[in-house]
Amino acid sequence: MLEVKNIFVRYDSGGSAPALQDVSFSLAKGERMALVGNNGAGKSTLFLTLVGILIPEQGSVIFDGLELRNGTASDIINTFRRRIGLVMQNPDDQLFMPTVYDDIAFGLRSQNMAEEEIEKRADTIMKALGIEALKDRLTHRLSGGEKRLAVLAGVLVMEPDLLLLDEPATFLDLPGRKRLIEILKCLSQSMIIATHDLDMADRFCSHTLRLDQGCIG
Ligand SMILES: Nc1ncnc2c1ncn2[C@@H]1O[C@H](COP(=O)(O)OP(=O)(O)OP(=O)(O)O)[C@@H](O)[C@H]1O
Ligand SMILES: [Mg+2]
Repeated sequence: MLEVKNIFVRYDSGGSAPALQDVSFSLAKGERMALVGNNGAGKSTLFLTLVGILIPEQGSVIFDGLELRNGTASDIINTFRRRIGLVMQNPDDQLFMPTVYDDIAFGLRSQNMAEEEIEKRADTIMKALGIEALKDRLTHRLSGGEKRLAVLAGVLVMEPDLLLLDEPATFLDLPGRKRLIEILKCLSQSMIIATHDLDMADRFCSHTLRLDQGCIG
């Protein structure tokens, strides 16, 4: 379902080394892959590229027959963003509506779904994640773990085909991590999980991709 072909990604067009260099891999439908590598290896950069926030200078990303490369039209990029759900490493980069409910509802509202249906879906997801009590709370006043779960709810409610989770267990306490793993296990979506928790990678993923200074390690 996903094929990454020889991508090079650079943050500035100057002379600095690319953050990703000649990265290629593929992911089959339903597969769960761990993405590991030291700080600065390029894991978050890869995720930002897979959702079209960063565009590869060379190479391409193919998702269900759609190709994202340098020069791809914005409607194709929007399809990538709709069908691939990214939970960013830092929840503060992702939460932007005043309340938790508004944040979870945002994506569905932009698809013009009826509010009644949106609320039903949001309630179901919040219940599964154990955050029903946060529904009317202000997002900027949540704890780190609460923010993480609110972002996850906003991504899951969109029912993406592929989930990208960037360090999903950060900020979570032990019960929160256990609940997260149980929830992820029940999902049928393909997933890539960037993690420093090798135990989680082993227990949960069928294979591992290692990045080392922007290259496949
Ligand atoms: N916005 C940016 N502008 C310039 N360089 C950046 C930017 N974001 C990341 N980088 C650089 O790109 C490289 C890859 O960073 P990235 O955040 O993808 O690593 P990572 O594997 O996610 O690390 P971590 O485990 O710390 O989250 C690093 O050298 C980093 O300094
Ligand atoms: Mg990162």
